[in-house]
Amino acid sequence: MAIWYGGDYNPEQWPEDVWAEDVRLMRQAGVTMATVGVFSWARIQPAEGRYDYGWLDRIIDRLHEGGIAVDLATGTASPPPWAAQKYPRMLTETREGATRWPGGRQHYAATSPDYRRLAAELTRATVERYRDHPAVVLWHLNNELGCHAALDYSDQAADAFRVWLSARYADDIDALNDAWGTWFWSQRYTSFEQILPPRLAPASVNPGGLLDFRRFSSDALLDLARMEKAIIREAGATQPITTNFMGAFPHADYRAWAAELDVISDDNYFDPRDPESFRGAAFSRDLMRSLKPGTPWLLMEQAPNAVNWRPNNAPKAPGQMAALSMQAVGRGADGVLFFQWRQAAAGSEKFHSAMLPHAGTGTRTFREIEKLGAELAELGDLPAPGGEARVAVIFDWENWWAIDQPDHPARFDYAAEVQGWHAAFHRRNIQVDLVGPQGPFDSYDLVVAPSLYLIRDAGPLRAYAESGRTFLATAFTDAVDEYDRLLPGGFTTRLGGALGVAVLEYEGIDEVTWGDQRGSTLREVLRVDDAEVLATFADGEAAFTRRGGAHYLAVLADDAGKAAVVATLAGHAGVEPVRAGLPDRVEACARGDMVTLINHNATAVEVDGGTLPGYGYKITKR
Ligand code: GAL
Repeated sequence: MAIWYGGDYNPEQWPEDVWAEDVRLMRQAGVTMATVGVFSWARIQPAEGRYDYGWLDRIIDRLHEGGIAVDLATGTASPPPWAAQKYPRMLTETREGATRWPGGRQHYAATSPDYRRLAAELTRATVERYRDHPAVVLWHLNNELGCHAALDYSDQAADAFRVWLSARYADDIDALNDAWGTWFWSQRYTSFEQILPPRLAPASVNPGGLLDFRRFSSDALLDLARMEKAIIREAGATQPITTNFMGAFPHADYRAWAAELDVISDDNYFDPRDPESFRGAAFSRDLMRSLKPGTPWLLMEQAPNAVNWRPNNAPKAPGQMAALSMQAVGRGADGVLFFQWRQAAAGSEKFHSAMLPHAGTGTRTFREIEKLGAELAELGDLPAPGGEARVAVIFDWENWWAIDQPDHPARFDYAAEVQGWHAAFHRRNIQVDLVGPQGPFDSYDLVVAPSLYLIRDAGPLRAYAESGRTFLATAFTDAVDEYDRLLPGGFTTRLGGALGVAVLEYEGIDEVTWGDQRGSTLREVLRVDDAEVLATFADGEAAFTRRGGAHYLAVLADDAGKAAVVATLAGHAGVEPVRAGLPDRVEACARGDMVTLINHNATAVEVDGGTLPGYGYKITKR
């Protein structure tokens, strides 16, 4: 299948006489897919019970005549003003009790029965109308679920949280009390009715409660996606279904979500001002590919040039947009789409770049869009992604939620830690999958578990760590169970045997040296039972150990330290880069037997006896 190319298209913002030009210029740019209807609710439904689809019929037909397929949104992302006026309880509240009012977008509570009913009605009406339209090739649930208001502390959310908790604890309040450890600070509940979301309180609130609230909040959003999906299928529509993810988004457990979707899609807005951001982008691409192994994903949104929502919005360098688009393709994407087709003339996003800029076709942005469209069209069928990586790095949302709490030995950013390990492999062009703590790990020769503090079921990981294959766990691993409770017998009670060490103490630190490397924030005091000590802290305590293939690093290493450890592990496991010996900042990614080489430097480099220009790319074979 050829690569989809296109973007969000918001025709309701324009008079119809502009639409003909849109389709003509889309064709000129090589556009093959438009995402329509994401913010069209107010236009489709001017009042409850009244629908106006005539305009949408006309634009979808027009796109179809132009040979452009439609990713049709359910349109539920931004309720019209009449909805919030009529049903004010659909709004969310912050932890401090402030209402998030209408006037922007996404002013709805996932748990609001009113919102859910209205969203269900709109979804049903839209799907029934367009399920057989030949232009519609994909359904797009809502939009970036949870992007602005994922955590809702309103009374309505409190009701839904209680229902969720009584299901989780089988209606047994003492099961919840035990899980949360509520004899602490006199927090014992005698009824589910007493439970609140973790609102602003005089002192830190119960960690088990915080963790369950994060799970509940992710589930509440997922439940909306499920509701819309069920309506689409009940209506008999057979096209695949997606919703646009936001990379390593903190409020949705995308690994759990992935199972509900036919196609994974992602929105990625790397900051062109940050010279290392292409590594973060690679992390997101690898995460998306890993969420549905073997299935190509879609880059649903990226900026054609600058965004408008950072304090100062750097443009992409000439060629950089194409380079990062090819990174997505090289890492498993079968679609390169943008926000948005035509730059808005009014509203908050009028300074956000678009494929067709306000100043028209005589712009660098449009020229680069046209050029990339032509290049993608020439690619033809690409191999299915999956199975390239010999290395897995574990990335787990519930662990993120558990680490992201106050009252720990030291606070650190779990997602940044995981990305740091991914980047250490990326710098060596070693391909990595991002997997969950349950594996499967069979196809890997090297598994890294950065700060896997919460482990629900250690079985698969322990089996891997004991298998003799190469394994690394790093500081703040294996401390608590799924309820954030310490286990009897100390720390590292489940993986310690395989690692040959036990963690005795956690120490918050500013900076520390270990071997000839540095670390900061957190180190541990280890008891070495049955392991070789590969490096010590300056005070002589063990910092880095190995038992068979199982390594333990008792500190949060800086980038240089991570690089040194990755060099050791890659050697130990015998994993090879996709391509060795490339110049600095030249990326190699594998997709089946296809290899994409991308120069992330602004200047040309020599590769394979030829020249790769600044931000140039080249497709070759393994
Ligand atoms: C995304 C969103 C789009 C647009 C874009 C701007 O978060 O889905 O609708 O707002 O950001 O960068």
